[in-house]
Formats: sequence, structure tokens, C-alpha cells
Amino acid sequence: MISRWPRNDLKGITMERKGKTLTMSVFARRKRQGKKIVVLTAYDLTSALIASAGGVDAILVGDSVGMVVLGYENTLPVTVDEMVHHCRAVCRAKPQVPVIADMPYGSFHVNTAETVRHGLRLVKEAGASAVKVEGGSQRTAAIRALLDAEIPVMGHLGLTPQSLNRLGGYRVQGRGKEAAAALLDEAVLLEEAGCFAIVLECIPSAVAQKISARLTIPTIGIGAGPGCDGQVLVIHDMLGLFTGLKPKFVKRYAELGASAVAAVERYTAEVRDGSFPGAEHEYGEERTGQRDGTGANVSGQSGYLGSDKADAD
Ligand code: KIV
Repeated sequence: MISRWPRNDLKGITMERKGKTLTMSVFARRKRQGKKIVVLTAYDLTSALIASAGGVDAILVGDSVGMVVLGYENTLPVTVDEMVHHCRAVCRAKPQVPVIADMPYGSFHVNTAETVRHGLRLVKEAGASAVKVEGGSQRTAAIRALLDAEIPVMGHLGLTPQSLNRLGGYRVQGRGKEAAAALLDEAVLLEEAGCFAIVLECIPSAVAQKISARLTIPTIGIGAGPGCDGQVLVIHDMLGLFTGLKPKFVKRYAELGASAVAAVERYTAEVRDGSFPGAEHEYGEERTGQRDGTGANVSGQSGYLGSDKADAD
């Protein structure tokens, strides 16, 4: 795969991942060692570079892409083509950690042949190392079929957003003795079916802790408390880029949406008052170092049109 993109092109951020390249074995290893597993969503090259440089253990190309990137009201309209498109962009970042792609709604509900065909697309065309499938006992045949095709599967229980119409809204799941016991049974079924990990979304912390203690595979929580073996967040939520919904379980580690609006306001004002572009953003008629009179590269950067030389190449 070609990667023409400069690795360290965002100001102040070294986009190379520090530390070892991780493979799928990281999930089992971290659980065995009692070390937390950090998962973050990404949907394109830039978010994948940021997640990888930030040191996550794995990237999830979630079908949340439908809401935070594509503007759908929920995740139900997301297609396999859209997942392939975004997952390919993530993989072009060569993020040095496993990339897990969501199987979108409808892609594993018809029959096992279709399920496997869609799973194979996510691996062969998009470059995913594994897929994620929402649901419990009703999905074990699909999960087994994917595993037979050598595709590792991450399960997803609790609040499964693809069940939105059946659930009647985004509600905490697994509350009450019966519901909690049912959730534990489903988690055991998914482990027996061969999932390498299970996302637990929006369930009481005590229930998640019990499931995590019972399973030998790791649980990755989102709104499921600190007792899970790892955590996952949607990158747009934790960076403050998507402010449409703010579930209780989201912690905002930055307010990039507000910073971005402020930056665009400054740009707008500077274009209108003529202060942008400034002299430092212009190209001279000669090839190098013309405008500061020293022969030095005016911008101090190299390549990617940072200097007049690159412009002439
Ligand atoms: O689609 C997604 O991003 C997810 C995570 C929230 C677990 O499924």
C-alpha cells in the first residue's frame, strides 16, 4: 500500500507511535497481565494517526462513523461500502495497532454466506484485522461462520445501538437481577462462540465487573464502569468535536470543536481584513530563500510545499 503522507505533518504532534507495533495478541496478553486495554475509534487517516500516536492499543472503525462523520441520525443506515471506505483510510495510516471494523446493521443478519462475504470485504479490501458484531445468542452462528473464515470477532453486548428500534431508545441495559443474569449468560455464550473480546456498552458497573471477572477474554467498556478490562470511546466525543450528544459516560479530554470554531473565526476575519495571507505564506519568483535575502529556506520546513524548492520540483 502506498503512503505518500508525511508522518509528522501536524504541528507539535509526533505522529509516529512510540513503542512496539501491536498485533491482535495484545488483547489476551493485557488480560493475562491484568493491564488495561485502551481502544479508540478512528474513521480516517488523521484520526488514525492521532489515535496511534496517542498510544492506544487498538483502533475501532465503529459504525458510529455514520453519526459523527456522515451525519446520519443513528447507525442503522451505515453500509458495508461506507465501512470499507473509512477502514481503508484508517489502514493507510499504518497505525501499528490492530484495526477492528464494525459489521454494520444488515451485514450479518441475512445468512452466514452474506455475513462471511461482508466480513471478508472488511479484511481483504479494507485491511481490518478483526470485525465487531453487535448482539448475543442470536449472533453465535454468524460469529462462528466468521471465525471459520479466519476472521477474529469482537462481540458487543448491553446497549447495542443497532437494536435501537427494538430497544425503543438509547437506554442503560442489564439493570435488575434477571437482566444482569441474562447479560452474563450472553457474554459466556459469546466467549464460547470464540470472540476474542466483548464490548460492554451502557450497563451498570457492578454487572460489567462480574462479567469481566467471569470471562477469560477481555471486556472493553463504554459506559460500563472501571471494572472492565479495557475502555473504548468515540474519538469525536472525547476530543469535543461532536457535541450533538453527550452521554454521561463520555469524558471530554479536549474541546477541539470550540477551538476549531475560534480558528475559523480568526481566518474569516483575517481574510476579510487582508491580514491573511501574510508575507510568510507567499512564494517568491525565484526558487529558494528569496524573500529573506539570506538564501535560507524561508519557511524552515522541507518538502510538501514548505519551501520554494519543493514548489519548483
Ligand atoms: O460504533 C462504535 O463506535 C462503537 C463503540 C462505541 C463501541 O460500537
